[in-house]
Amino acid sequence: MSKKKTVLSCIQPTGQMHFGNYFGAVKNWVDLQADHDCFYGIVDYHAMTMPYNPDKLRQNVWDLAFNLLAVGINKESLFIQSLIPEHTELGWIFNCFCSYGHLSRMTQFKDKSKQSKETDSEGFISAGLFDYPVLQAADILIYRADYVPVGKDQDQHLELSRAIAQRFNNGVGKDYFVLPETLHTISPKIMSTADPSRKMSKSAGEKHYINVFADEARIIKQIKSAVTDTGDNPGDGKMSPGIENLFVIIKASGNMEAHDALMTDYTNGALKYVDLKEAASAELVKLSATFKANKEELLANKKEIKNQIKYSSSEIRKRAQETLREVKELCGLLNVKL
Ligand code: TRP
Repeated sequence: MSKKKTVLSCIQPTGQMHFGNYFGAVKNWVDLQADHDCFYGIVDYHAMTMPYNPDKLRQNVWDLAFNLLAVGINKESLFIQSLIPEHTELGWIFNCFCSYGHLSRMTQFKDKSKQSKETDSEGFISAGLFDYPVLQAADILIYRADYVPVGKDQDQHLELSRAIAQRFNNGVGKDYFVLPETLHTISPKIMSTADPSRKMSKSAGEKHYINVFADEARIIKQIKSAVTDTGDNPGDGKMSPGIENLFVIIKASGNMEAHDALMTDYTNGALKYVDLKEAASAELVKLSATFKANKEELLANKKEIKNQIKYSSSEIRKRAQETLREVKELCGLLNVKL
């Protein structure tokens, strides 16, 4: 029997979880748990790289932890980055195996620092923002992850992680780190219901995303008012983006029967938008009801669940400590207990 492959991914503790996040990323994480050794981190150290509010950060970390459990992430897989200080320690070591030039080419840094310049009155750009991909490499390599399920926007960071691993291996003369691979699972991209030409996202405003824990009435209302035909429909028998989005939602929810029946109507020119919308909102309402029930149960045992999350972080920490011990040995640092 072959050993299970290790999967790692992380998410920043910001705001709420919407169906775009769920179908586009988190659902895939949940599914991967069936046959992989999974690690999923809430990366609060990363969330400090841009201006932030300390109380809100702590609140967001716990909110996200409960949200992830409610949608199906296992407790044993979940950790909170700052509870495992070995990440930052390995991050420092990796700083010394990463070239300044490589970091300067990261487009996320360029984009975010430009954004900071525009939105922050002081134009403050932290060194942490620049160094962020090195900490990300530590997050990944400390568990010797084989696969990292992330979106295309993280390709450059993953490539940097591999470059660090390779330089480390060369530097210490041993193939110690496995080079992690990006796992680009084809996951459905959910568009904004208010403007189906753009991705569902929080940054565009309330109308543009549906929280997975939203009230039933709100979900129904939002799908009811979803844009279907826009002025600039593609024509030549092509489906308009708003209609496609509703089909994608139904398919992503797993109700192929409803999807196929409506698609047949569409092909025959007999599709009623109201039916399509009803089917899409029924799926989201059903999913959301399960998530809300799970979350309610978790929140009823809030203290106990928080303890379990701390416990799983401490168990996962053991793996991180083992790697760090070996890394220190390999790169000439002392490994003595004080
Ligand atoms: N950079 C990722 C993002 O912005 C978050 C992240 C931090 C991450 N560490 C990671 C993703 C390790 C995958 C693996 O979404």
